[in-house]
Amino acid sequence: MLLEVRGLGKKFGGLDAVKGVDLDVPEGQVTAIIGPNGAGKSTLFNLLAGFYRPTSGTVTFEGKDITGMKPHRTVREGIARTFQTTKLFDDATVLDNVLAGRVVRSKSNALDAVFHTPRHRRDERASKARAMEELEFVGAAHLRDRLASKLPQEAQKRVSMAQALATEPRLLLLDEPAAGTNDEETEAFGLLIRQIVARGITVCLVEHKMSMVMNLADQIVVLDHGQRIATGTPAQIKSDPLVIEAYLGANTDQAGAPA
Ligand SMILES: Nc1ncnc2c1ncn2[C@@H]1O[C@H](COP(=O)(O)OP(=O)(O)OP(=O)(O)O)[C@@H](O)[C@H]1O
Ligand SMILES: [Mg+2]
Repeated sequence: MLLEVRGLGKKFGGLDAVKGVDLDVPEGQVTAIIGPNGAGKSTLFNLLAGFYRPTSGTVTFEGKDITGMKPHRTVREGIARTFQTTKLFDDATVLDNVLAGRVVRSKSNALDAVFHTPRHRRDERASKARAMEELEFVGAAHLRDRLASKLPQEAQKRVSMAQALATEPRLLLLDEPAAGTNDEETEAFGLLIRQIVARGITVCLVEHKMSMVMNLADQIVVLDHGQRIATGTPAQIKSDPLVIEAYLGANTDQAGAPA
């Protein structure tokens, strides 16, 4: 198992945002995490990537206990994420945003940078090449010199995927990659996620758009009020009475407005 989560919990004051969650993420697959607004999906991602420290439970990644590890360390371990509300550096170009993801894998140190040593120059060239490869991969290479903040939502989402990929993750956490995109764009993001999986990167996907989830997921985990209420294949989840009651309802693509 690539990622093993046991009894994970996060309290905000009196609220159990995530409670006693067990989760197994098999390597090379897409695990989708669904549930109504406020179910704890983003909080779960924040716990996995180290943005929040859990109040209980453990997170094991590739057999190593990473519980409570800070984001700059989880990313070195191989966990990258995109945010529900895209968080790019507004005053920086698209390429610089993706280069920021490369810092994690940089081999030269601060002194190399100050003295412009050959190692630093080599490192910089390699980083730039890798960042451009990722921009090409997500179909945003032509935007390299644009200011990230001036781009439409859909392009920003592509750039943040390139930024996450530039860190060379083994596990990629995508928080609502298709939110705020039209049907055509959603389908394109679905294809892109498939290509990411084909590269051998394991994906965890939080998404309200059920068409995308049902299409992509090998496994679906359903959260409600911070707790896991079901796990199964898309077919199993679609016919689970508990899930239908808590979340899916009649019109599956309308369930829960993306925040
Ligand atoms: N930093 C925080 N401080 C206090 N409460 C929080 C914090 N972050 C999240 N919560 C609360 O925890 C619960 C879970 O929130 P979370 O954002 O994880 O839900 P979600 O499943 O991602 O919802 P959505 O589908 O709307 O994105 C909610 O009740 C939310 O208000
Ligand atoms: Mg969320």
